[in-house]
Amino acid sequence: MPQKRCFFTNILTTDVDKIVDTFPLKKEKTHNGTTWMQEIVPLIVSGGDPASVETLYNWDRVPWLEFHTDCNEDFSKRPSPRMFATHFQHHMMPPGFFEVKPKVIYVMRNPKDVFTSYIHQHSMTPLMVQTGPQREFLHKFLDGKVAFGSWFDHVKGWLNAEDKERIMYISYEEMIMDSVTRIAQFLEKPLGPEVIEKIAERCLFKNMKQNKMSNYSAAPREFLDQRKSEFLRKGVVGDWKNQLTVAEAEHFDAVYKDKIKDFNFLLTELT
Ligand code: A3P
Repeated sequence: MPQKRCFFTNILTTDVDKIVDTFPLKKEKTHNGTTWMQEIVPLIVSGGDPASVETLYNWDRVPWLEFHTDCNEDFSKRPSPRMFATHFQHHMMPPGFFEVKPKVIYVMRNPKDVFTSYIHQHSMTPLMVQTGPQREFLHKFLDGKVAFGSWFDHVKGWLNAEDKERIMYISYEEMIMDSVTRIAQFLEKPLGPEVIEKIAERCLFKNMKQNKMSNYSAAPREFLDQRKSEFLRKGVVGDWKNQLTVAEAEHFDAVYKDKIKDFNFLLTELT
Protein backbone atom coordinates (compact mmCIF):
# COMPACT_ATOMS: atom_id res chain seq x y z
CA MET A 1 0.00 0.00 0.00
CA PRO A 2 1.66 3.23 -1.05
CA GLN A 3 1.75 6.09 1.35
CA LYS A 4 -1.45 8.08 0.98
CA ARG A 5 -2.57 11.52 1.73
CA CYS A 6 -5.44 11.93 4.10
CA PHE A 7 -8.91 11.23 3.27
CA PHE A 8 -12.47 10.75 3.23
CA THR A 9 -14.74 8.23 1.91
CA ASN A 10 -17.33 6.91 -0.19
CA ILE A 11 -17.37 3.53 -1.69
CA LEU A 12 -18.80 2.21 -4.82
CA THR A 13 -19.30 -1.40 -5.68
CA THR A 14 -19.85 -3.22 -8.92
CA ASP A 15 -20.97 -6.74 -9.77
CA VAL A 16 -22.95 -7.08 -6.63
CA ASP A 17 -25.30 -10.02 -6.40
CA LYS A 18 -26.40 -10.85 -2.92
CA ILE A 19 -25.30 -7.66 -1.28
CA VAL A 20 -28.78 -6.39 -0.71
CA ASP A 21 -30.31 -9.60 0.58
CA THR A 22 -29.56 -9.03 4.22
CA PHE A 23 -29.31 -5.35 4.21
CA PRO A 24 -28.75 -3.61 7.53
CA LEU A 25 -30.89 -0.61 8.28
CA LYS A 26 -28.20 1.58 9.71
CA LYS A 27 -27.85 4.94 8.04
CA GLU A 28 -24.58 6.17 9.34
CA LYS A 29 -22.51 7.71 6.62
CA THR A 30 -20.05 10.35 5.64
CA HIS A 31 -19.27 12.03 2.32
CA ASN A 32 -16.99 13.36 -0.49
CA GLY A 33 -16.29 12.01 -3.94
CA THR A 34 -19.53 10.05 -4.23
CA THR A 35 -21.24 12.19 -6.87
CA TRP A 36 -18.05 12.32 -8.87
CA MET A 37 -17.68 8.55 -8.82
CA GLN A 38 -21.36 8.21 -9.81
CA GLU A 39 -20.33 9.96 -13.03
CA ILE A 40 -17.00 8.27 -13.74
CA VAL A 41 -17.95 4.65 -13.19
CA PRO A 42 -21.11 4.49 -15.38
CA LEU A 43 -19.16 6.18 -18.15
CA ILE A 44 -16.36 3.66 -17.87
CA VAL A 45 -18.68 0.67 -17.62
CA SER A 46 -20.66 1.84 -20.67
CA GLY A 47 -17.48 2.33 -22.72
CA GLY A 48 -17.88 6.11 -22.65
CA ASP A 49 -21.53 6.26 -23.71
CA PRO A 50 -22.81 9.76 -22.73
CA ALA A 51 -26.33 8.33 -22.32
CA SER A 52 -25.10 6.54 -19.20
CA VAL A 53 -25.03 9.89 -17.38
CA GLU A 54 -27.53 11.89 -19.40
CA THR A 55 -30.64 9.76 -19.13
CA LEU A 56 -30.69 8.85 -15.44
CA TYR A 57 -30.22 10.88 -12.30
CA ASN A 58 -27.08 9.92 -10.43
CA TRP A 59 -29.14 8.50 -7.56
CA ASP A 60 -30.88 6.19 -10.08
CA ARG A 61 -27.85 5.13 -12.05
CA VAL A 62 -25.75 4.40 -8.96
CA PRO A 63 -28.20 4.17 -6.06
CA TRP A 64 -27.29 4.38 -2.44
CA LEU A 65 -27.34 1.10 -0.58
CA GLU A 66 -28.56 3.09 2.40
CA PHE A 67 -31.80 3.96 0.61
CA HIS A 68 -32.60 0.41 -0.35
CA THR A 69 -35.52 0.26 2.02
CA ASP A 70 -36.74 3.77 1.20
CA CYS A 71 -36.85 3.51 -2.57
CA ASN A 72 -38.84 0.31 -2.71
CA GLU A 73 -36.73 -1.17 -5.49
CA ASP A 74 -35.36 -4.68 -5.66
CA PHE A 75 -31.71 -3.89 -6.22
CA SER A 76 -30.92 -7.50 -7.08
CA LYS A 77 -33.01 -7.10 -10.25
CA ARG A 78 -30.81 -4.34 -11.61
CA PRO A 79 -28.88 -5.25 -14.76
CA SER A 80 -25.31 -6.39 -14.23
CA PRO A 81 -22.89 -4.92 -13.51
CA ARG A 82 -24.75 -3.43 -10.57
CA MET A 83 -23.25 -0.26 -9.16
CA PHE A 84 -23.97 1.15 -5.74
CA ALA A 85 -22.73 3.98 -3.61
CA THR A 86 -22.62 3.89 0.14
CA HIS A 87 -21.15 5.63 3.12
CA PHE A 88 -21.46 2.59 5.33
CA GLN A 89 -18.53 1.84 7.51
CA HIS A 90 -16.85 -1.46 6.70
CA HIS A 91 -18.36 -3.31 9.64
CA MET A 92 -21.85 -2.16 8.63
CA MET A 93 -21.75 -3.80 5.23
CA PRO A 94 -24.36 -6.56 4.88
CA PRO A 95 -23.28 -10.23 5.04
CA GLY A 96 -23.79 -10.64 1.27
CA PHE A 97 -21.00 -8.16 0.70
CA PHE A 98 -18.51 -10.45 2.40
CA GLU A 99 -19.74 -13.51 0.45
CA VAL A 100 -19.95 -11.98 -3.02
CA LYS A 101 -16.76 -9.96 -2.68
CA PRO A 102 -17.62 -7.24 -5.20
CA LYS A 103 -15.07 -4.75 -6.37
CA VAL A 104 -14.93 -1.65 -4.22
CA ILE A 105 -13.62 1.80 -4.97
CA TYR A 106 -12.95 3.62 -1.74
CA VAL A 107 -12.55 7.38 -2.11
CA MET A 108 -10.87 9.40 0.58
CA ARG A 109 -10.31 13.10 1.00
CA ASN A 110 -8.35 15.40 3.23
CA PRO A 111 -10.70 15.55 6.24
CA LYS A 112 -10.23 19.29 6.57
CA ASP A 113 -11.73 19.64 3.09
CA VAL A 114 -14.36 17.06 4.01
CA PHE A 115 -15.31 19.19 6.98
CA THR A 116 -15.42 22.31 4.79
CA SER A 117 -17.62 20.67 2.18
CA TYR A 118 -19.75 19.11 4.86
CA ILE A 119 -20.50 22.36 6.64
CA HIS A 120 -21.83 23.77 3.37
CA GLN A 121 -23.89 20.63 2.75
CA HIS A 122 -25.43 21.10 6.16
CA SER A 123 -26.34 24.68 5.37
CA MET A 124 -28.16 23.66 2.19
CA THR A 125 -29.95 20.62 3.60
CA PRO A 126 -32.99 21.73 5.61
CA LEU A 127 -33.55 18.22 6.96
CA MET A 128 -30.15 18.17 8.65
CA VAL A 129 -29.66 19.82 12.00
CA GLN A 130 -28.07 23.23 11.69
CA THR A 131 -24.38 23.22 12.52
CA GLY A 132 -24.31 26.10 15.00
CA PRO A 133 -21.02 27.94 15.49
CA GLN A 134 -18.24 26.47 13.37
CA ARG A 135 -15.94 25.88 16.32
CA GLU A 136 -18.53 23.72 18.05
CA PHE A 137 -19.37 21.86 14.90
CA LEU A 138 -15.68 21.16 14.35
CA HIS A 139 -15.47 19.52 17.76
CA LYS A 140 -18.50 17.39 16.95
CA PHE A 141 -17.00 16.41 13.61
CA LEU A 142 -13.71 15.38 15.18
CA ASP A 143 -15.57 13.41 17.84
CA GLY A 144 -17.67 11.67 15.19
CA LYS A 145 -20.83 13.14 16.64
CA VAL A 146 -22.21 14.17 13.29
CA ALA A 147 -24.83 12.60 11.12
CA PHE A 148 -22.34 10.68 9.06
CA GLY A 149 -20.23 9.29 11.87
CA SER A 150 -16.52 9.45 12.54
CA TRP A 151 -14.23 10.09 9.61
CA PHE A 152 -11.44 8.35 11.52
CA ASP A 153 -13.45 5.19 12.19
CA HIS A 154 -14.59 5.08 8.60
CA VAL A 155 -11.15 5.33 7.09
CA LYS A 156 -9.61 3.04 9.65
CA GLY A 157 -12.24 0.35 9.06
CA TRP A 158 -11.89 0.36 5.31
CA LEU A 159 -8.11 0.64 5.28
CA ASN A 160 -7.93 -2.35 7.58
CA ALA A 161 -10.39 -4.38 5.51
CA GLU A 162 -9.52 -7.88 4.42
CA ASP A 163 -9.51 -8.77 0.72
CA LYS A 164 -7.61 -5.65 -0.20
CA GLU A 165 -7.03 -6.94 -3.73
CA ARG A 166 -10.66 -6.19 -4.52
CA ILE A 167 -10.54 -2.70 -3.06
CA MET A 168 -9.15 0.24 -4.92
CA TYR A 169 -8.17 3.04 -2.57
CA ILE A 170 -8.04 6.43 -4.16
CA SER A 171 -7.97 9.92 -2.78
CA TYR A 172 -9.97 12.88 -4.01
CA GLU A 173 -6.65 14.65 -4.43
CA GLU A 174 -5.46 11.94 -6.82
CA MET A 175 -8.75 12.11 -8.69
CA ILE A 176 -8.19 15.79 -9.37
CA MET A 177 -4.97 14.79 -11.17
CA ASP A 178 -6.26 11.78 -13.06
CA SER A 179 -8.21 8.70 -12.21
CA VAL A 180 -10.07 7.37 -15.24
CA THR A 181 -7.29 5.13 -16.55
CA ARG A 182 -6.66 3.63 -13.14
CA ILE A 183 -10.34 3.04 -12.41
CA ALA A 184 -10.91 1.49 -15.86
CA GLN A 185 -8.03 -0.91 -15.25
CA PHE A 186 -9.37 -1.82 -11.85
CA LEU A 187 -12.83 -2.48 -13.32
CA GLU A 188 -11.19 -4.57 -16.06
CA LYS A 189 -12.68 -2.36 -18.74
CA PRO A 190 -9.99 -1.73 -21.33
CA LEU A 191 -10.64 1.60 -23.04
CA GLY A 192 -8.67 3.40 -25.73
CA PRO A 193 -6.95 6.72 -25.02
CA GLU A 194 -9.61 8.71 -26.89
CA VAL A 195 -12.46 7.28 -24.83
CA ILE A 196 -10.48 7.82 -21.63
CA GLU A 197 -9.87 11.40 -22.66
CA LYS A 198 -13.56 12.01 -23.35
CA ILE A 199 -14.63 10.51 -20.02
CA ALA A 200 -12.07 12.60 -18.15
CA GLU A 201 -13.32 15.72 -19.93
CA ARG A 202 -16.96 14.98 -19.11
CA CYS A 203 -16.09 14.42 -15.46
CA LEU A 204 -14.30 17.71 -15.02
CA PHE A 205 -15.97 19.74 -12.30
CA LYS A 206 -17.04 22.52 -14.66
CA ASN A 207 -18.67 20.04 -17.05
CA MET A 208 -20.31 17.89 -14.41
CA LYS A 209 -21.76 21.04 -12.94
CA GLN A 210 -23.66 21.56 -16.19
CA ASN A 211 -25.14 18.05 -16.20
CA LYS A 212 -28.62 18.41 -14.74
CA MET A 213 -28.75 14.66 -14.17
CA SER A 214 -25.75 14.99 -11.83
CA ASN A 215 -25.79 18.45 -10.28
CA TYR A 216 -28.81 17.87 -8.02
CA SER A 217 -30.68 20.79 -9.59
CA ALA A 218 -33.65 18.42 -9.83
CA ALA A 219 -33.67 17.72 -6.11
CA PRO A 220 -36.59 19.42 -4.32
CA ARG A 221 -35.66 22.42 -2.19
CA GLU A 222 -36.86 20.76 0.97
CA PHE A 223 -34.02 18.27 0.50
CA LEU A 224 -31.35 20.46 -1.04
CA ASP A 225 -31.68 24.20 -1.12
CA GLN A 226 -29.09 25.25 -3.66
CA ARG A 227 -29.90 28.91 -3.12
CA LYS A 228 -27.88 28.56 0.10
CA SER A 229 -24.94 26.61 -1.35
CA GLU A 230 -24.47 24.65 -4.54
CA PHE A 231 -23.99 20.93 -4.20
CA LEU A 232 -21.19 20.95 -6.75
CA ARG A 233 -19.71 23.81 -4.85
CA LYS A 234 -16.01 24.43 -5.58
CA GLY A 235 -14.44 21.07 -6.38
CA VAL A 236 -10.91 22.07 -5.38
CA VAL A 237 -8.19 20.81 -3.08
CA GLY A 238 -7.37 22.88 0.00
CA ASP A 239 -10.50 25.00 0.38
CA TRP A 240 -10.21 24.38 4.14
CA LYS A 241 -7.73 27.26 4.16
CA ASN A 242 -10.66 29.58 3.42
CA GLN A 243 -12.88 28.00 6.05
CA LEU A 244 -10.83 27.19 9.16
CA THR A 245 -9.16 29.73 11.39
CA VAL A 246 -5.49 29.16 12.18
CA ALA A 247 -6.44 27.95 15.66
CA GLU A 248 -9.06 25.55 14.26
CA ALA A 249 -6.61 24.15 11.71
CA GLU A 250 -3.99 23.62 14.41
CA HIS A 251 -6.51 21.88 16.62
CA PHE A 252 -7.57 19.70 13.69
CA ASP A 253 -3.96 18.71 12.99
CA ALA A 254 -3.34 17.83 16.63
CA VAL A 255 -6.45 15.62 16.85
CA TYR A 256 -5.62 14.04 13.50
CA LYS A 257 -2.09 13.17 14.59
CA ASP A 258 -3.35 11.65 17.79
CA LYS A 259 -6.16 9.64 16.21
CA ILE A 260 -4.18 8.18 13.35
CA LYS A 261 -1.19 7.11 15.38
CA ASP A 262 -2.40 3.52 15.60
CA PHE A 263 -3.47 3.24 11.97
CA ASN A 264 -1.92 0.30 10.17
CA PHE A 265 -1.41 2.59 7.24
CA LEU A 266 0.68 5.66 7.09
CA LEU A 267 -1.24 8.82 6.36
CA THR A 268 0.65 11.97 5.53
CA GLU A 269 0.39 15.60 6.52
CA LEU A 270 -2.90 17.44 6.15
CA THR A 271 -1.67 20.09 3.75
P1 A3P B 1 -16.82 20.77 -2.41
O1 A3P B 1 -17.96 21.04 -1.46
O2 A3P B 1 -15.48 20.92 -1.74
O3 A3P B 1 -16.91 21.54 -3.67
P2 A3P B 1 -20.06 13.96 -2.22
O4 A3P B 1 -20.60 13.80 -3.59
O5 A3P B 1 -19.39 12.71 -1.73
O6 A3P B 1 -21.04 14.50 -1.25
O7 A3P B 1 -18.87 15.05 -2.30
C1 A3P B 1 -19.16 16.38 -2.65
C2 A3P B 1 -17.86 17.09 -2.98
O8 A3P B 1 -17.30 16.53 -4.18
C3 A3P B 1 -18.09 18.57 -3.24
O9 A3P B 1 -16.90 19.23 -2.79
C4 A3P B 1 -18.20 18.59 -4.76
O10 A3P B 1 -18.00 19.86 -5.34
C5 A3P B 1 -17.09 17.61 -5.11
N1 A3P B 1 -17.16 17.13 -6.49
C6 A3P B 1 -18.19 16.52 -7.12
N2 A3P B 1 -17.89 16.29 -8.41
C7 A3P B 1 -16.63 16.77 -8.61
C8 A3P B 1 -15.75 16.85 -9.75
N3 A3P B 1 -16.12 16.41 -10.95
N4 A3P B 1 -14.53 17.39 -9.57
C9 A3P B 1 -14.15 17.87 -8.36
N5 A3P B 1 -14.93 17.83 -7.24
C10 A3P B 1 -16.17 17.28 -7.38
